[in-house]
Amino acid sequence: MLEGRTAVVTGGSRGIGRAVVERLCRDGADVVFNYATSEEAAVDVVRGVEAAGGKVRAIRLDLKQPDAPDQLMQAADAHLGGLDILVNNAAMVHSPVPLAETEADVFDSVMAVNTRSVFLTMRYAARHMRDGGRIVNISTMNTVRPVPGIGPYAASKGAIEQLSAVVARELGPRGITVNTVSPGATDTDMLRGANPSQALETVAGMTPLRRLGEPSDVADVIAFLAGPDGRWINGQNLRATGGLA
Ligand SMILES: NC(=O)c1ccc[n+]([C@@H]2O[C@H](COP(=O)([O-])OP(=O)(O)OC[C@H]3O[C@@H](n4cnc5c(N)ncnc54)[C@H](OP(=O)(O)O)[C@@H]3O)[C@@H](O)[C@H]2O)c1
Repeated sequence: MLEGRTAVVTGGSRGIGRAVVERLCRDGADVVFNYATSEEAAVDVVRGVEAAGGKVRAIRLDLKQPDAPDQLMQAADAHLGGLDILVNNAAMVHSPVPLAETEADVFDSVMAVNTRSVFLTMRYAARHMRDGGRIVNISTMNTVRPVPGIGPYAASKGAIEQLSAVVARELGPRGITVNTVSPGATDTDMLRGANPSQALETVAGMTPLRRLGEPSDVADVIAFLAGPDGRWINGQNLRATGGLA
């Protein structure tokens, strides 16, 4: 259903981003994704997609670097010959610390990776994406379920929710939809790195569907918004949380 369409996915080497790359490729899109350091994982994604007959390219670029988001978009645009889909998935978390003890450079790093990169990739898309395109930005349920200690992370995600809502109104006349997907607790390195396994059992127990999300649970929602069936959904924030938020 995405044959002839092109896509850029940030942070496609692991977790939700990897599941998005694999799903969009299965649907027929030609995909470029970036990663920061996980060379082996990125190669593994490319091998798997190519073995299944899909088209994908991985680029190593750390989105914390000021020019990296534009470099990614330019390289992807040149390689793909035009852009139809942008999924802003890459993000970093920080160790949970009360605001009183949070260093300003933690705030700056989180905002650079999670927010500034999204601003820049969306700005590139606003200038160069083909009409009828799709932009999906990944936030978190933590913007509606605040947790102590994650101020910079939650702020970085709240900002992209607002950016998405505004840009949806700017790009709508060109047939480009802009939406946010906000996952709940999803079983990835990020989640396991930030929480002891007992806490994850508690979260799964609090979730109406009584389990953690899998990366594919979220990727399928993103693929819906990126595909033809998502054409009438615009400026929304879909909470893919199993009912937790
Ligand atoms: N997992 C959850 O429970 C959960 C819940 C709510 C929202 N989310 C959101 O879902 C998205 C994906 O999370 P995840 O759990 O799949 O994370 P993850 O397992 O930590 O994977 C993160 C991906 O982003 C890339 N990345 C991180 N920092 C980067 C940087 N500075 N430059 C370029 N790429 C970078 C990583 O590349 P490398 O492999 O090279 O490091 C990796 O491919 C994030 O936006 C996150 O905030 C996750």
